[in-house]
Amino acid sequence: MKIAIINGPNLNLLGKREPGIYGNEPFEDYFLKLKQLFADVELEYFQNNSEGNIIDILHEIGFTYDGILLNAGAYTHYSIAIRDAIAAIKTPVLEIHISNVHAREEFRHKSVIAPVCKGTIAGLGMKGYALGINYFL
Ligand code: DQA
Repeated sequence: MKIAIINGPNLNLLGKREPGIYGNEPFEDYFLKLKQLFADVELEYFQNNSEGNIIDILHEIGFTYDGILLNAGAYTHYSIAIRDAIAAIKTPVLEIHISNVHAREEFRHKSVIAPVCKGTIAGLGMKGYALGINYFL
């Protein structure tokens, strides 16, 4: 079972970025825990701040992986190009948000990628990634 996590813009700053919203844990630390929790899964982690690079990653892995957990960050709310990339690939994509986007600013309530994703996990903190992996298993 091959599963990838793709984190988009500003998520490289997890641990430092708005800790009241996103917590204190760097994603690299949490990823080590995920690797231990899901020792039998081939887990890959990508992070990129650029829309085009995220699209390239989706194209590269989206025909061979069994599942993708995508936290597209702010691109979630307006990137039709990322939406089209998700629609173009074969691998199912789960939309992940650490924060409860629906309890935040109005511009975060809309997701342009949600209709082409298998489902959405939002507001459960880092645990959302573990829950997403469990779904694919
Ligand atoms: C986020 C929510 C987005 O609105 C925001 O732009 C992010 C992170 C989340 O994980 O809660 O960068 O995707």
